[in-house]
Parts: sequence; structure tokens; C-alpha cells
Amino acid sequence: IAADAPTFTFERNASPIEANERARLLENPGFGRVFTDHMAMIRYSEEKGWHDAKIVPRAPFQMDGASSVLHYAQEIFEGMKAYRLADGSTALFRPEANARRFRDSAIRMAMEPLPEDLFLASVRELVKIEQDWIPEAEGGSLYLRPFMIASEVFLGVKPSSEYLYAVIASSVGAYFKAGAGAVSLWVSQDYTRAAPGGTGAAKCGGNYASSLVAQAEATRKGCDQVLFLDAVERRWIEELGGMNIFFVFDDGTLATPPLTGTILPGITRDSIITMARDMGLTVREEPYAIDQCRADAESGRLREAFACGTAAVVAPIGMMKMADGDFTIGSGGPGQTTMRIRDALTSVQRGKLPDPRGWVEQI
Ligand code: PLP
Ligand code: COI
Repeated sequence: IAADAPTFTFERNASPIEANERARLLENPGFGRVFTDHMAMIRYSEEKGWHDAKIVPRAPFQMDGASSVLHYAQEIFEGMKAYRLADGSTALFRPEANARRFRDSAIRMAMEPLPEDLFLASVRELVKIEQDWIPEAEGGSLYLRPFMIASEVFLGVKPSSEYLYAVIASSVGAYFKAGAGAVSLWVSQDYTRAAPGGTGAAKCGGNYASSLVAQAEATRKGCDQVLFLDAVERRWIEELGGMNIFFVFDDGTLATPPLTGTILPGITRDSIITMARDMGLTVREEPYAIDQCRADAESGRLREAFACGTAAVVAPIGMMKMADGDFTIGSGGPGQTTMRIRDALTSVQRGKLPDPRGWVEQI
């Protein structure tokens, strides 16, 4: 496939989910359980390069038991959303940023980087075909999950010579259960997510596999999400299992942990830093220790905290629990600055506010 002219063959699903059934599914889709009729696929081999780009009916993959992804976890993914705009058209938000991060993740995992224009074309083509799957309800969107797996049939430990790239799409509502004014975090002091030199900045499945025991612990403690600390000193706040984190202080400034290679460089994180600065707010990217966070929450210096990511959007954080005791942040509910930022972000994403940076791409 010429990198500058990707063409996808299209095989329409002959037995798509009926419109009535689709409408029923879209009423309350939750997150990650409702899937559309088609998927995009592209294959890579050393002999052919990237080839066989197609949109096909969504169906199970056939895989050999020796496919290297099943043994050594050479796998990466992305998460992005297609939105219905106020004028009825469909749009993506900063898809080039996902394409670039997918490439960076591939390089870290010694995988063949997918050309960014192929990534973008695959997502655009799939969204064009699946627009009817965007829920109409407030907060609904089509969550896109591009991913790539090592498909060489070989048990030696080395980078695969073959890859399968695919995009599936899922109609989604809110990631957290409605009614939760603010979420609670379990501060993991036993488990860490990523060490310096590791894969923390890559969006690879292994990072999530290793986070699950800590997430399960958080759930057992009655919390919505796990908060990870750094792996060296077990002191510096890093990020959640699937979201970045921000803090809002009594002087109106914001802070978020810096990108030092152990956290995912979130596109929502970057967008919020930019938009908050445009709003005249001061945002610092600086390390923040959990003991300081607790002291600041107790003294009132720390007023608000929120989690952010594509799936979660902006979620207020009301309290943190840890082995040494629990503490509330601000009122324990959604903070004003948090809601102002959430509003600004979602309004741009949904075409309700001007988009001076050209982040919204209509398709
Ligand atoms: N951190 C982790 C571990 C994530 O899984 C995600 C979600 O993709 C994020 C942060 C936020 O990234 P983004 O805003 O690009 O969705
Ligand atoms: C996303 O926000 O896209 C993620 O991958 C995180 C996960 C919680 C679904």
C-alpha cells in the first residue's frame, strides 16, 4: 500500500444488527459492551509490508496458538472517540495525536510502526460506515479501539515479523456509573504500574494486565480507581489505572505530574493543559508527593482533583483511601474549576465552542 494513498476494500456486513435492536442497545450502552457491525484490518509482513487494508464484518479472528502475542504480549492499542456535533455531522478529536502515540508505542514494543496516514484512514473509513452507532444521548460517543498484535507463528523470543492491525468500534456512554458525583481512589502502596526505563509511556496491553491486581484491590476497598505512585520512592503521584490526574489549589493554579516516561502522555491531559492556559489559569507540570497531597487536602490548600482520559473524560475525585487512612478533597464532590474545564473540553469536542487549534476533524 502506498503510504500516501491508502485504499480500503469494503465488504458490507450481510447480516448487520437490525435498526430496532441497535436503537435498544444505544439507549444505555454503558462502556465497552456494545460493538458495531464492521472493523478495519491491515496486515504487515516483512515480504509485503503493510497490505490487505479492508473494512469487513466484525468477526472473531482465527489465530494459531503459537502467535507470539499470546506468549510475549507484543500488543499495543489506542482509545479515541467519534462525536456527533450539534449540526448533526460526525467528528474526531485530535486523531493525529493518537496516530503519533500509536507509532511511539509500536517503537517501544519493537513492533513495526504503522504509517500515521494509514492509522488515520482506517479510523476515518470505519467511522464513516458506523455513524449510526453514535448514541444520541448526552455524553454518548463511538469509542474507537485501534490495536495491533504480533501474529508471527513462532515461540522464539524476538520481535515478530508479522503484525495484525485492527480497529473495532463500541457505542459508549459514561465510563463511571451515572450519579457518582465524584470518584474515589485507592492509593496503591504495594503495587506500582511502571518503572523508569519500562513501558509506562507506551499504550501496551501489558501495562493494563499488571494494573489489574491493584485495580481489584481498589474495588475491594470500595474505590472506583487505583492511583499509582512512582516505583522508585513510592511517593510521587503518577496516574490512575486508565487516566491522568490533575490537582487544583486554593490560589486557582493547577498541577499535574510531569511526563518522565513512566506515565501515559494523555491527549486529554495535553488538551486540558492547553485549554486551561488559554483560560488564563496557571498549570504546572511538577511532581506531587502523596504525603504532601494529604497534608494539602487536610489544610484546604488542595481544593479539587480530577481524573482525565478519553474514556473517563473529566471525572472529579472526591476522596482518596490508603493504608494510613482516608482523606477528602475539597467538598468531596465535583469542584468548580473541574466542572469548568470539563465543560470547556466537551464543548469544543462537540462543536459547541470555537475550535481555535483545529482539534476537531469533521468526517
Ligand atoms: N493514562 C492511562 C494509563 C490511560 O489508559 C489513559 C487512557 O487512554 C490515559 C492516561 C489518558 O489518555 P488519553 O487522554 O489520551 O485518553
Ligand atoms: C481510554 O481512555 O481510552 C483508555 O484506554 C482507558 C481505559 C480506562 C478504557
